[in-house]
Amino acid sequence: MEQKKWIDINTESFQYSLDHFVIPDHYEDALESVLIPHGVIMDRVEKLAKLIVQEATGPLVVCCVLKGGHQFFADLVNYIKKNVTRGGKTVPLSLEFIKVKSYSGETSGEVKLSLTEEECQEFQGKNILIVEDIIDTGKTMVQLLQKLKQYSPESVKVASLLIKKTPLSNGYIPEYVGFAIPNAFVVGYALDYNEYFRDLDHICVINDHGKMKYAIKN
Ligand code: HPA
Ligand code: MG
Repeated sequence: MEQKKWIDINTESFQYSLDHFVIPDHYEDALESVLIPHGVIMDRVEKLAKLIVQEATGPLVVCCVLKGGHQFFADLVNYIKKNVTRGGKTVPLSLEFIKVKSYSGETSGEVKLSLTEEECQEFQGKNILIVEDIIDTGKTMVQLLQKLKQYSPESVKVASLLIKKTPLSNGYIPEYVGFAIPNAFVVGYALDYNEYFRDLDHICVINDHGKMKYAIKN
């Protein structure tokens, strides 16, 4: 059987009970189950860091997509640094942070970056690694890649911790993927629901009560 390049998680077959992990009291009633425990996330991020270093051909501009990507970005960069201090292959890193706004209302699906034109010019000739929390439909990432390529980088690769198995996917698959997850709304490890749950270490499935409790109130 062909080995997939990511860990395929199938909710139907297994989810961890909340009772078996430490969950902040303030989120206990809003969650269905633990999908990926924090320790497993960390082990997987360490492996992705190792692969990225092995395959790097020069200095990397590691580009964090805020806000959801921040925890994955922080842990990934830490593991890359650890590899260096352990006497492994050395890859110089510079760090960049971007916010991507997508205008879902518009048919073009165009995205707007938080970087100035001048800051984007800095990408010219560089090896960029975009770090994202989740690829869902893939629309935002495809648009972001198109936009970045206008600034003539040497290469652009993408690391996404999660990829969602959804019928709405446009088929886009990043170079580095941590886990493929079922078509459910997940939170934790910086992934949010209306800005809540970023302060949760495990990646969990939100329940209906949670969706109501943390819905946007007008
Ligand atoms: N959780 C959090 N943010 C997201 C998700 C999700 O499941 N899908 C797209 N953005
Ligand atoms: Mg995101």
